[in-house]
Order: sequence, then structure tokens, then C-alpha cells
Amino acid sequence: MGIIHVDRLKENMVLSEDVRDLNTRLLLAKDLKIQSKHVRILKMWGITEVSVVTDEQDYEETTTKEIDPELLERIEESTKHLFRHVDLEHPAMQELFRLSVLSKSRHDIDKTDKKKMVDIVEDSKEKLLSDLRNNIAYQEIKLPEIPSTVFELNEVIANPLASADDIARIVSKSPSLSAILLKIVNSPVYAFPTRIDTISRAVTLIGTQEISGLALGISTISIFKDIPEDMIDMHLFLKHSLACGIISRVLCAYKNIIQTEQLFVSGLLHDIGRLILYKYYPEQAKKILIRSESSKELLHQEEKIGLGCKHTDIGRDLLKKWEIPFSIEDNVFYHHNPSDADNRTHATIVHLSDIIVHSLEIGTSGERFIPNFDHEAFDSLGLSPSCFDHVIRLATHQFNAVESFF
Ligand SMILES: [Fe+2]
Ligand SMILES: [Fe+2]
Repeated sequence: MGIIHVDRLKENMVLSEDVRDLNTRLLLAKDLKIQSKHVRILKMWGITEVSVVTDEQDYEETTTKEIDPELLERIEESTKHLFRHVDLEHPAMQELFRLSVLSKSRHDIDKTDKKKMVDIVEDSKEKLLSDLRNNIAYQEIKLPEIPSTVFELNEVIANPLASADDIARIVSKSPSLSAILLKIVNSPVYAFPTRIDTISRAVTLIGTQEISGLALGISTISIFKDIPEDMIDMHLFLKHSLACGIISRVLCAYKNIIQTEQLFVSGLLHDIGRLILYKYYPEQAKKILIRSESSKELLHQEEKIGLGCKHTDIGRDLLKKWEIPFSIEDNVFYHHNPSDADNRTHATIVHLSDIIVHSLEIGTSGERFIPNFDHEAFDSLGLSPSCFDHVIRLATHQFNAVESFF
């Protein structure tokens, strides 16, 4: 079995899996022999990749056979370090380890986002750690007031009678927000066959709640765009967040979950608590990052030691204060321990997406290792690790198309 781009399909190739659109509607069934009319159908529905029965030669594309053994050994060592806090005996982690190694060896290893979140001169680390002036505790963390766009979008989400024009009116107040929204709905993420030119049209096609939710997520994360570069590389943080949102959305399709936008936004905002620290408490955040670098412990454990809380607590508090829908707050709060969430399935999807993003080292949130893996939650999701390869390919294609919009 192998996944190939629609442009590379040849007559009589056989589909090894059903082809569905993002709403899981069946387009072409498994075992179908491809004819030219099928390629037209796939293109019409914006499907870019399909899974086909291939021979052993093609299958080598997804193995490490061809890689220089010395390079492979080096990559495996650094990947073991990345996976040091998870159980590599679990089949899901084994498969992610394999894909992580494969991804790094296919591309130039140095092209992964190895850049640190903060680059602090070695000499100033001691001084920073010994300076007690800026130490804060959880109770002292002050959260920003709700922005007007988020406030107005909340009202629309809470109003079942809200119309497409109501949303368009709010969104159009921010040209950058409407531009990003339109770019996303016209991208391979939605793969509509025709162009969508207005927010009202997007609302008609995708839904009032869905577009409002998307606008809410984009507005919220955009507030943190101006964090100074000497604190964090916001571009890398956005990459981490966006990739997590897109993978969450792709996993929804696998699990026949219809709340795709809600999961996308949850993934986009999952580490928002860290942005509060980076933006408003940079000195404290730097200390925590330095400590995790030297202790090699997980960042959220160092947060607990340094602040008395984790970024998930701060994220939950912010989303509560801003009255973001509870479903998103629940997914964000429990993304490191989804077994405890109200909606375990949804929180597990965000949890797994975060781990996949970490394993591929796409962007960074400051965490340098793969965070703890909730294997009980994963096992109850009923998802085979064999789907990760396909999920990553689909998500990568969508990610590459929208990354530059943010
Ligand atoms: Fe996190
Ligand atoms: Fe994360």
C-alpha cells in the first residue's frame, strides 16, 4: 500500500482504501480500478492524495532501507533523546519514532526546527536564575482583558439566530482576519471546487458556528503576534500551533467526528497558556526554559516547580475569562492528560496531534521533548498507528498550503 499524488495515478491502479471528502462522504470505494473519469472526480472534490495498492519497489519510499547507515544512526540517537519521556514499547510511539527518523532522513536533518525558543547568552543564565525580583506565583498571574472582536464573536456563537451577515460584519472590521479566513477556506484544508469570495458565502457553505469558531481561534492567537523576538520566535510557535490544529482536524475525519473546526481551534490554541507567560512574564518564562534545558525534564514540570501551575492552567483561565466555548477550554486544559477530560475523545485527538507535531519537530512551543503520552486515552480512541503515515502526509500538504497566511 502507498499514498500517491492524484497526478501520479495511472489507469488500472487499485485503491487500497475508501476515498472520502472531509465530511467523510464516500467518493470512491476501496478496490476500485482507477479510470480517467475517477481522476476527474478526485480533482473536482479537491482530493490530492489517495492510497493505492503498490508493489514492493514503491513501498520502499516509506522505509529507511536506502539511508546511509551512519546518518541513520545519528538521526536515531537524536530521536531517542527527543522521545526520552515516552514509552517506546507502545506501538503508537514506535510508529511515530519510525516516521520521525524517516522524515529527518528524507530531508536535510538540519532543516528541522532545531532553533531554540530563546537564545540566552551563557553568562547571563546564572544571573537570570539568581534574580528573585521577577519571580511570580500562579495566583499573581494577571490575564489580559477580552479583545472586542472575541467578545462580539462570542455573542454570535451564543446566538442561534445569528446570520451570515452578522458574522461577516464582525469579521470585516479586521481586514487581516477576513483575509486569513478567506485564504483558509480557499485552501486544500477545505478543498472546495470553486472559489469563495466572501465571508457570507463561507458561512453558508461551512456553517455559522464553524466560521465564528475559526475566527475566534485566529483572533485569539493573533493577539500574541507582537511578542518580541528576543523572547520567542513567534513564527516557530505559530507553526507548532497551526500544525497541531491541522492534524487534529485530519484526525477528526478518521474518527468520523463532525466538530472539525472546534478541534482545529483547540489545536491552534492548545499552548496559549505559554503565550501568556512569554508575553507578560518573559523573565520568569526564560528562567523556566533555562531550567528545563539543564534538567532535561519536561517543560510543564518545570512550570509547576517555578510557578506552582502549568501552562494548561493558565490557558484554561484565559479561555474561561474570555468566555471561549467550554468544549475548546476542555480540550486545551486536558491536552497533556486527556483521560481526565469531559470529552475524552476530543482531548485525546489534540493530545495525539501535539505529540505528532513534536515527533516531526515542526515549530516549537518551548518544549524540547515529546511530552508525556497518555496511552490509556490513546488506546480507547481506537485508532491504529498504521494510519499515522497517511495522517501526516495529508496534514503536511494542508499545512504547507496555509502556513504563510499566519
Ligand atoms: Fe502543551
Ligand atoms: Fe504543544
